[in-house]
Amino acid sequence: MTKLLENKIAVITGGTRGLGLGIAQAYAAAGAKVVVAGRSQSTIDKALKELPEGQAAGISCDVGDLEQVEALGEFALKTFGKIDIWVNNAGLSAPFGPTVDIPTDAFMKVINTNIIGVYNGSMVALRYMLPQRSGKLINLLGRGEKKSVPLQNAYSSSKAWVRQFTLALAAENKGSGVEILAFNPGLVDTDMLRQVEAIKGFEQRLKPLETVIRLWGNTPELPAQKALWLASGATDGKTGMAVSVLSPQKMMGGLFREALRVIRRKPAPPIPLTIHTVAPNH
Ligand SMILES: NC(=O)c1ccc[n+]([C@@H]2O[C@H](COP(=O)([O-])OP(=O)(O)OC[C@H]3O[C@@H](n4cnc5c(N)ncnc54)[C@H](OP(=O)(O)O)[C@@H]3O)[C@@H](O)[C@H]2O)c1
Repeated sequence: MTKLLENKIAVITGGTRGLGLGIAQAYAAAGAKVVVAGRSQSTIDKALKELPEGQAAGISCDVGDLEQVEALGEFALKTFGKIDIWVNNAGLSAPFGPTVDIPTDAFMKVINTNIIGVYNGSMVALRYMLPQRSGKLINLLGRGEKKSVPLQNAYSSSKAWVRQFTLALAAENKGSGVEILAFNPGLVDTDMLRQVEAIKGFEQRLKPLETVIRLWGNTPELPAQKALWLASGATDGKTGMAVSVLSPQKMMGGLFREALRVIRRKPAPPIPLTIHTVAPNH
């Protein structure tokens, strides 16, 4: 039987760990050859050990730097011959706290990765996909894509930008043969949620995150399956879709499981969270 992504070549930024690695594994299992990119060579080497030999390659790339993203595209082309799928997954967040307290370099890092990185990745991907009149470009959304989130302004406003940017790009390129899609993976239990930073004095405000992860967190496998569907022929002709793993049913399911746990007096499984304190910007 032909696999869903047989003969497809996919580039996944931030594919070295967390959700990106989950997506790379799902794509490889579906027959694709994958190129993963992240900023650290040691993480790339580790990720390649978790991907099937002969089906994966990796290169160091900071998505905020256009030249490095261009080099990523060239590397994918040289290694596997073409690019069919490009996932702008690399993302990070700033310390939790008031915008005026966030160190400027931390705020700018979010802008450079979540906004400039998605712009760079989209431009390079389209350079390959538009002339070949086919391809799937998938940009990652996240909390704040539709609603402002105080104390998480850098991250949330960047995701609102990604949503608008992606949908406008899709409208501009309708009928080009390239599907441009936006994807919110829901709450994914990764370093992004477990290794968090808070401005001094705001650490305790992050404690409820443990409960939130327990109730609604998914391992990367589940959203990775949705990302697989997005990259497949199932979305042919469906450019401009914004897909979310979150749903009211899922939210209710988490609450129901928690209620059962309390009724049965079962202890809550520990969710180890590391909160690093960051000094305010003044
Ligand atoms: N976790 C969630 O609950 C959640 C929810 C909604 C949306 N998302 C989105 O899903 C995506 C993946 O998140 P995650 O939870 O898997 O995060 P993660 O575990 O922190 O992994 C982030 C990945 O991005 C890479 N990365 C970060 N900055 C980069 C840069 N400037 N250039 C290249 N690579 C970079 C990291 O590798 P290096 O550090 O080695 O560079 C790593 O591979 C993000 O866009 C995030 O906003 C996550």
